[in-house]
Amino acid sequence: MSKTKEEKYDILQNKIDEALLGGGEKRIESQHAKGKLTARERIQLLLDEGSFQELGMFVTHRSTQFGLDKQKFLGDGVVTGYGTVNGRLTYVFSQDFTVFGGSLAEAHAQKIVKVMDLAMKNGAPLIGLNDSGGARIQEGVVSLGGYADIFYKNTLASGVIPQISGIMGPCAGGAVYSPAITDFNIMVENTSYMFVTGPNVVKTVTHEEVSSEDLGGASAHSTKSGVAHFSTANEVEAIDYIKKLLSYVPQNCEEWPEDLPYEPKDEIVPELNNIIPENASQPYDIKDVIFKVIDDDTFFEVHKNYAENIVVGFARLGGKSIGIVANQPAFYAGVLDINSSIKAARFVRFCDAFNIPLLVFEDVPGFLPGTDQEWNAIITNGAKLLYAFSEATVPRITVITRKAYGGAYDVMNSKHIGADLNFAWPSSEIAVMGAKGATEIIFRKEISEADNIEAKIKEKEDEYNDLFANPYNAASRGYIDEVIRPDQTRERLIRGFKMLENKADSLPKKKHGNIPL
Ligand code: HXC
Repeated sequence: MSKTKEEKYDILQNKIDEALLGGGEKRIESQHAKGKLTARERIQLLLDEGSFQELGMFVTHRSTQFGLDKQKFLGDGVVTGYGTVNGRLTYVFSQDFTVFGGSLAEAHAQKIVKVMDLAMKNGAPLIGLNDSGGARIQEGVVSLGGYADIFYKNTLASGVIPQISGIMGPCAGGAVYSPAITDFNIMVENTSYMFVTGPNVVKTVTHEEVSSEDLGGASAHSTKSGVAHFSTANEVEAIDYIKKLLSYVPQNCEEWPEDLPYEPKDEIVPELNNIIPENASQPYDIKDVIFKVIDDDTFFEVHKNYAENIVVGFARLGGKSIGIVANQPAFYAGVLDINSSIKAARFVRFCDAFNIPLLVFEDVPGFLPGTDQEWNAIITNGAKLLYAFSEATVPRITVITRKAYGGAYDVMNSKHIGADLNFAWPSSEIAVMGAKGATEIIFRKEISEADNIEAKIKEKEDEYNDLFANPYNAASRGYIDEVIRPDQTRERLIRGFKMLENKADSLPKKKHGNIPL
């Protein structure tokens, strides 16, 4: 006998209840016992209340090996769909560790690919919340194929829509490569880890004994490898970071980030006049400059504990979303090295891809010397930052606060590589190198023949400093548009970015460039 309408509604409700329970109450409890939220709880935190539309709730796998035909869970271990974050359309997938350890196989992958395709076609960000034991072992090569389908889509989507990965649990083996291709990775301390090969394989191959946390936890990846852009204390904070990140970026590469309201007012900041120390070799914290220049409480630092000799992050200036790249004199004197070049280059490329104007604060003594740097290819890696700035077509402004020496002067968003406005503070020193190094080279003979060598060195250094330790040679050539007092900086920058807001620039026609990788 055919079923009544009421019976059909009951069947639907039962299925929904079954799907909502994932791997069952006990498994959900075990997830909580590990200090982790469930896939659905994470989505609830991320999206605006009541905005989630789930897709593929009743999808199951079609596998029969290893008794899988008797073990089917509605949704197949991943919750997918769309909703809004602060009113903006956002696509999401959230892996359910309570079902086969969140492992990825054919149907699970197809669900993820479906939301990726929708995100691309509709030009909206994609958030992936990863919590998975990797490829579902029972499904064999089909699982590997599923991963590759996702990697391929991640690559096609790169630079088209923002892609953000939250790492909420295990992310091991080849599974790491989807987050690696996305724009930002946010890890949760103590409950998430990422590695290509786990502690057991490491022990067998290299005889090293290391825990999962030490090998690939949030701390390792946010300080040593740079794989994680953010390390968060818990999942609530991780999801908060994702939302914050979204607030600075547009929906896709054809849109601009949203402006917040700004009322023009007196923007002179006298405190900025007192930040640079009298002694040019004394450090100061560039973040003191950043905080005084940008709108209050808007700095959102990326890679905070990695390659700290350069500071990168999002902020708002006169209500506009901007990306900041700043040398940090308080850490290794702000020198450029391999890690800081890579860190900044990737950030610059993200901002350029998504129409976020760039502001650079420059105080750099040059590139870090040494065999370690040379043998690990500072040449190739330093060139990444040079290349990234050179091809960026978004509005670009530089403020030189103190040293702009050597190749680093060229690299740090100089006029010569396409910056739109270049300002310098009166404390700027723009030269091939510092006075000490320069006098040792160009006055070596004169110094060695002097009766009083120390006095001669001082005389020559003073002579060099008088000539070069200032911004006026560069300004006289037009390499610097204006020498400004520090207290005028915020006002000049707000005005500058306003002037540049309709900037239109393009690169020569090409398939793609060949950034030195
Ligand atoms: C199938 C899996 C699974 C997997 C976990 N499970 N990983 N099922 N395929 N890859 C299942 C377990 O059998 C278990 O099922 C449940 O998920 C929970 O797992 P536990 O081990 O009980 O959880 P826990 O102690 O928290 O340990 C989590 C873990 C561990 C560290 C992730 O499960 C683990 O090591 N899994 C295997 C990881 C791995 O080697 N994956 C393949 C990587 S290679 P029951 O029914 O008992 O509850 C890879 C290649 C991708 O991913 C290549 C792409 C290019």
